[in-house]
Amino acid sequence: MKTYLVTGGCGFIGANFIRGMFEKHGNDVRILNLDKLTYAGNPANLKAVGNNADYIFIKGDICDKNLVNGLFRSYDIDYVVHFAAESHVDRSILSADEFVRTNILGTTILLDAAKSAWETDEGYLDGVKYLQISTDEVYGSLGETGYFTEMTPLDPHSPYSASKASADMLVKSYFDTHKLPVNITRCSNNYGPYQYPEKLIPLLIQNCLEKKPITVYGDGMNIRDWLYVNDHCRAIDMVLHHGTIGEVYNIGGHNEKTNIDIVRLVIGYLHENYDPDIDDSLITYVADRKGHDRRYAINPEKIERTLGWTPETSFAEGIELTIRWYLENTEWLGNLKQISV
Ligand SMILES: NC(=O)c1ccc[n+]([C@@H]2O[C@H](COP(=O)([O-])OP(=O)(O)OC[C@H]3O[C@@H](n4cnc5c(N)ncnc54)[C@H](O)[C@@H]3O)[C@@H](O)[C@H]2O)c1
Repeated sequence: MKTYLVTGGCGFIGANFIRGMFEKHGNDVRILNLDKLTYAGNPANLKAVGNNADYIFIKGDICDKNLVNGLFRSYDIDYVVHFAAESHVDRSILSADEFVRTNILGTTILLDAAKSAWETDEGYLDGVKYLQISTDEVYGSLGETGYFTEMTPLDPHSPYSASKASADMLVKSYFDTHKLPVNITRCSNNYGPYQYPEKLIPLLIQNCLEKKPITVYGDGMNIRDWLYVNDHCRAIDMVLHHGTIGEVYNIGGHNEKTNIDIVRLVIGYLHENYDPDIDDSLITYVADRKGHDRRYAINPEKIERTLGWTPETSFAEGIELTIRWYLENTEWLGNLKQISV
């Protein structure tokens, strides 16, 4: 049995990852979930595994050095999968402090704790690995053509992406300097169940259900590359177990959509299948987000070629699964901590 320290496991991707790991690996995994439960962390996301004896929840902050070191002393941790972050660009534009603290300082504390727990006279314990969950936003913005590869220089524009790029550089430095066994994954925009409704797709669904205005930044033509969350989680599992130490892996499904296309698609689905009063009249254009990146698009060739990963869920299938999940889980939506930006 392998022991995983997952950080931020009560958030959107972390919770989908933990549930997926128990489904796939059953009794072969023990998972410690260290989560501070910010507004974005919701233990209800993990109700399905709550009674599993191999699931251990620790409410706490990754910036709490004593706590993090104590976890390494108390458990034989084989893997760190570091999701915990302040993750919303709009919040980082209003105030960057927490992004610097959690995303940069928190990463350093985890790296130091892993290094001291795993280091031996001959190097590091066998099979251990630290995996940094990063984002395509560290690469900045693309023009109308081209893709982000792992060689694309980092050029973050928002305080959020700058804090994630800083964390990536720290992870790289622990590999370069200390030979700590690490990988970094950089994924495109995720969508799926359990995403806090401040991000585009769940916010859109929630506002449609409540017949609230749907605000679209600028001309709505910003392009994001969308991946169903379970496909991201499968990629993380593969990189963790088969990725070459020290390497970065981009993850994406060649699924570029403009924001306005996503808005129209979700409205169209709900209009057809849920309530004919939900229509395009809900759309309101607002001033563009400051420093708004125009286009993100991942080239996933490396992970496809070297690890054999490919996305399994088409966008048509994934978006329907996602909308239906929110329709069936209005109680989950209603119980969320409400913190307005
Ligand atoms: N959502 C996406 O589309 C996307 C895409 C690529 C990469 N990522 C990255 O994946 C990771 C997870 O993203 P998400 O969308 O699930 O985020 P999220 O905001 O839904 O969840 C973040 C989780 O981290 C926890 N957390 C925050 N600060 C903490 C701290 N100081 N100590 C302990 N726990 C803390 C929160 O309580 C929450 O459970 C992030 O690192 C993000 O940068 C996200």
